[in-house]
Amino acid sequence: MAESGPVLIFDSGLGGLTVLREARYLLPYEELLYVADDAAFPIGRWPEEELKARILSLFGELLSVHRPKAVVIACNTAFTLAGDALRQAHPSVPIVGTVPAIKPAAERTSSGLVSVLATPGTVRRAYTKGLIESFASQCHVRLVGSDVLAELAERHLRGEGVSDEALRVEIADCFLQRDGRRTDIVVLACTHYPFLANRFRKIAPWPVDWLDPAEAIARQLVRVLGDRTATAPSREPDRAVFTSRPRDPGLERLLAGFGLRLQAERF
Ligand code: DGL
Repeated sequence: MAESGPVLIFDSGLGGLTVLREARYLLPYEELLYVADDAAFPIGRWPEEELKARILSLFGELLSVHRPKAVVIACNTAFTLAGDALRQAHPSVPIVGTVPAIKPAAERTSSGLVSVLATPGTVRRAYTKGLIESFASQCHVRLVGSDVLAELAERHLRGEGVSDEALRVEIADCFLQRDGRRTDIVVLACTHYPFLANRFRKIAPWPVDWLDPAEAIARQLVRVLGDRTATAPSREPDRAVFTSRPRDPGLERLLAGFGLRLQAERF
């Protein structure tokens, strides 16, 4: 593993920033490099083979250029598809993944009714089904795939209007009543969705626990870095790379709010 070099945090768009902000808090001295494959966004509807090939090829390039000391795949859609293949292809780089928080939800639920809100890709994945079989067989787990929520989260984050009604339609299927019990946990299984959690709380038909795995992912990163954790401020600024190479002052300002400088060149 490279001793220096940034921690690379990857997503298809802005969702991984929910993980980056937790990592920043727990690892104040670490140099962070945020990579968004926004040229492919949203990836939730991509065919599996094509998406997997794209992720593997992008990482071949990213890892050789940046030599990160660790990688966080801050994206359920990407990790549940390509996580194993990435680890096989790059055994010397520690890779922290993001998977739907089905295990903690199953441990916490009182009603036994849990919903998983995710992209259509994550809902379809064999990986997700495996998590339910291994950790939540005693629960009723409802998988709710949304075609548009990741895009709505980005619009919300950029300060563009997103109506309550548009969000209500997307979360409605998460709420289930059965034999006097009702859903008490909704797993936010797309890293974009925590940006909408306060909006969801306002429009939900009843209060539920909206489970956001970001802090747990950042804690796993801390464990993985172990004694390689930076203990003095990095001399390098934290940067963001977007594969579409956007020239967008609004995005620059937004990223500056997360302590990131948007890099103009692709890598
Ligand atoms: N943020 C990603 C996830 O956690 C998906 C967003 C997209 O559809 O591109 O699944």
